[in-house]
Amino acid sequence: MKKKLWAGRFKKGTHKVAEKFSASIDFDQRLYKEDIEGSIAHATMLAKEKIILKKEADKIIKGLKQIEKEIEAGKFPFREELEDIHLNIEKRLIEKIGDVGGKIHTARSRNDQIALDMRLYLRREIDEIIDVIEAICMRFVKLADENIDAIIPLYTHVQRGQPILLSHQLMALFEMLKRDRERYIDCLKRINALPLGAGAGAGTTFPINRKLVAKLLDFPEVTNNSIDTVSDRDFIVEFISTSSTTMMHLSRISEEFVLWSTKEFDFVDLGDEFTTGSSIMPQKRNPDMAELIRGKTGRVYGNLVAILTLMKGLPFSYNRDMQEDKEPMFDTVDTVKSCLEVLSEMLQVIEFKHENMKKALNEGFITATDVADYLSRKGMPFRNSHEVAGKIVSYAEKKGLELADLNISEFKNFSDLFEQDLYKYITLDGSINSRKSHGGTAKSNVKKMIQSAKKEIAGW
Ligand code: ARG
Repeated sequence: MKKKLWAGRFKKGTHKVAEKFSASIDFDQRLYKEDIEGSIAHATMLAKEKIILKKEADKIIKGLKQIEKEIEAGKFPFREELEDIHLNIEKRLIEKIGDVGGKIHTARSRNDQIALDMRLYLRREIDEIIDVIEAICMRFVKLADENIDAIIPLYTHVQRGQPILLSHQLMALFEMLKRDRERYIDCLKRINALPLGAGAGAGTTFPINRKLVAKLLDFPEVTNNSIDTVSDRDFIVEFISTSSTTMMHLSRISEEFVLWSTKEFDFVDLGDEFTTGSSIMPQKRNPDMAELIRGKTGRVYGNLVAILTLMKGLPFSYNRDMQEDKEPMFDTVDTVKSCLEVLSEMLQVIEFKHENMKKALNEGFITATDVADYLSRKGMPFRNSHEVAGKIVSYAEKKGLELADLNISEFKNFSDLFEQDLYKYITLDGSINSRKSHGGTAKSNVKKMIQSAKKEIAGW
């Protein structure tokens, strides 16, 4: 039997089946960098506080750095029987520098060690996620700027409703992602507290200096309660929850592009780079990347349910169940990052087909609301104006004409309130530019939105 690092009181070795079942090294080796970074800071503090000798800490740190190189070179012997990344690294350290390597675990438990590794890891990943979200936000603003003259129908119930600027809709996507960015930044606040020093959950008998470790690892604060520290996985729940909202947004954006790339809409070209052909129907171009983003949303929701269910009803403080927190966390990181990356690149090549968008506006009495609004501005209660406008639509439909094609006497047959100035409001530009309410689609408004977004982005 190979002696485990924790096996002092054991007479028999772990059963092969149990060993395989409980090992996490296959997936938690992804935390090697954070584990080493945390150990180096811990050793530095132990020496500073004279809990170990400076020369011992130097040896430990040197050994850890060599181990990092071994892992990066693919030469590190990961061993299942050593359970996890912490024990794999610690054992290797002892093999390399001798028994003094065992001093690294003074005043520390794997319970606070794993909490530290995950906070360090998520902090770094969230920074990268935020970078891509910011790039996408900038891209939406740029596209809104470049396409400022394009007009599309606003759809409700996927039915053509009112004319709007394409830029207005692009700025709506900007708003969604801007909120995602804020939510990730908010997550960081709670991740950014040092858990190391909580020990197994009760604190430690050694005179450690948690503030120093926090400073070395760039944590603005230390956690307050050692029990809560080793029990807490809220930061992972929050991260996956935030990511679920982001994925929900990405899936809606993707769905819009899928719809818009159909022959029925034909509003966008997603580019050869981000579409694929059909193996049987030669004419086809499928929006697979957008579909996959939409599809991958489900697994992130699944991860959220997994972590919430994992934590539900767990007794205090650390329980081995919590080892199951890692795969949902890693999968969420991988999924969100890859989806954001694909969307970001797709937005570089996407082209909007202004002519087709315009065509979709020329059928369907898209300015009927403007006819009703016109009457109401002249004093008619909106319910009545709505009815009159409806009748006019039905009249025009029968004649096979659009609203702006009817002459003024035809309008007057429905109400004497109609005057020549009506036509200013029922053309596409007239309709759009009269929606000047804050947040509305008037071009002057949308231009302001773009300007203020640019200013905001400059402050990020
Ligand atoms: N591999 C463990 C996890 O991921 C590390 C903490 C284990 N602590 C323990 N006392 N067994 O949760």
